[in-house]
Amino acid sequence: MKTGDSKEETDQARKGWLEEFLAGKDHPAPERGNSRAGALLAVIKALVNALEARDHYTSQHSAQVTVLAEKIAGTLALPPQELYNIAVAALLHDIGKIGMPDRLLYKSGPLTEEEWKMMKRHPDVGAAIIGDIPLLEPVAKIVRHHHERWDGKGYPAGLAGGDIPLGARIVAVADTFQAMVSDRPYRPRRSPQQAAQEISALAGSQFDPAVVKAFTDSFWGNNAFLPAIL
Ligand SMILES: [Fe+2]
Repeated sequence: MKTGDSKEETDQARKGWLEEFLAGKDHPAPERGNSRAGALLAVIKALVNALEARDHYTSQHSAQVTVLAEKIAGTLALPPQELYNIAVAALLHDIGKIGMPDRLLYKSGPLTEEEWKMMKRHPDVGAAIIGDIPLLEPVAKIVRHHHERWDGKGYPAGLAGGDIPLGARIVAVADTFQAMVSDRPYRPRRSPQQAAQEISALAGSQFDPAVVKAFTDSFWGNNAFLPAIL
């Protein structure tokens, strides 16, 4: 997903990556090789397709957040099953937005206070959408808590510190960074360097300092990975 590619090329690259991801090339899905694992992958793909059909922007954003979250989780050397859960959660973290009204989803300017209140329901809506799929229970937890803050001032539960699932702390950093480096109608994008500095400044308040360290280690340790996805 390099800057400057045509929309078709970008979509093609994204689809290729998604196919590879969902085929589980580098991700040991639960009980791989049996029909349950195959059914699970089909369900995940259906959810991604639903999000793509409803909200193209969020779908693209989620694919990029997944690449970043995987990189952070890899730097933290998490076990394969946790890496898998985090990657799927990153892919589906905003799935609850398919339940938001059009006037919020497609609004080109900043949301009003009342609209924000409604939009803040998307983590709960997302967790409810996938929460009944038994193998996705840990994923639903990450989805529900991806807007919590390290200092407890986030939503929907106001969890703080280590009470927030680690995967949700990782997705939060990846999500915020990706949003910062993307154009919005009402504000210009930040450079990756500027966004990374802003993320670092929020360690200990909005974000888990250990996750921010893993993020910055990834960022500065291998500059090559960022241009490849932005
Ligand atoms: Fe979100």
